[in-house]
Amino acid sequence: MTNIASLPLLVLCTVLVWHTSLGTTSTASFREAVLESILDERSSRVRPDGPESGSPVSINISYSLTSISKVELSTGLFETVGYLQLQWKDPRLAFRSGFASAIRVDPASIWTPDIELYNSAPPGLTILNRKNVAIVYPSGEVLWIPMVALPSVCDMTSDVVPATFNCTLLFGSWTFPGFDVDVGVSHLAVELSDYIPNRSWEVVNTSASRRVSYYSCCPEPYPLVSFSIVIKQKA
Ligand SMILES: *[C@@H]1O[C@H](CO)[C@@H](O)[C@H](O)[C@H]1NC(C)=O
Ligand SMILES: *[C@@H]1O[C@H](CO)[C@@H](O)[C@H](O)[C@H]1NC(C)=O
Ligand SMILES: *[C@@H]1O[C@H](CO)[C@@H](O)[C@H](O)[C@H]1NC(C)=O
Ligand SMILES: *[C@@H]1O[C@H](CO)[C@@H](O)[C@H](O)[C@H]1NC(C)=O
Repeated sequence: MTNIASLPLLVLCTVLVWHTSLGTTSTASFREAVLESILDERSSRVRPDGPESGSPVSINISYSLTSISKVELSTGLFETVGYLQLQWKDPRLAFRSGFASAIRVDPASIWTPDIELYNSAPPGLTILNRKNVAIVYPSGEVLWIPMVALPSVCDMTSDVVPATFNCTLLFGSWTFPGFDVDVGVSHLAVELSDYIPNRSWEVVNTSASRRVSYYSCCPEPYPLVSFSIVIKQKA
């Protein structure tokens, strides 16, 4: 899936086509049956296996920036609004497609990775809006697109005029080491197709990459993905 940004729209169109051609009753009861067969309270609390038994589950993350809401030079606060696209595979959710090429579920009813913003400025943790629905495909692939306002800390020292800063958003699993949950980027840049220009700051470049960190608490690797946004003060 190279262009995941267009997936929700595709799913919506497919859903509309069934509704007009088949009527809603049979497809609605089909979706109810699928939901009943795949949702299980116990498995929603346990991470899925990766491709092999015991291997890490890989989470692909991309970030779509919609606006820059705060740039505070005195404190280094960099606040953006946008949405994350998280994609992973949970084989326990696979279903026979029948009438539905995808179903929507409440993220609270399935396992979701505990991805957090590591360089969050207060108020900090649990910034993901867990109310946004997740889409489950017959293969067990899950696409979850939480809308998020992200207050982050950025090093706002700049020797150049106009001021130019490279602000980075660092995401990773809060508790799972890389042996359990791996993270990766699906694009090498921040998505800007929905970006609304800011009056005072221009986005001049972006980048996205994966890196691995180690902490004094634990010997395990902690993979992180970083999304960098270079902003330049407008004249
Ligand atoms: C993650 O992205 C990589 C590279 O784009 C792709 O090969 C892989 O299938 C994706 N995995 C999932 C679970 O979407
Ligand atoms: C642009 O960024 C500033 C912070 O420097 C913010 O106050 C403002 O609301 C943002 N939005 C627009 C549309 O300019
Ligand atoms: C944008 O950032 C990337 C990654 O850091 C870099 O390779 C590229 O040269 C930059 N492009 C511009 C126009 O500055
Ligand atoms: C921003 O800085 C990071 C860390 O130094 C670097 O890896 C990244 O390529 C930079 N991004 C851009 C778009 O210049």
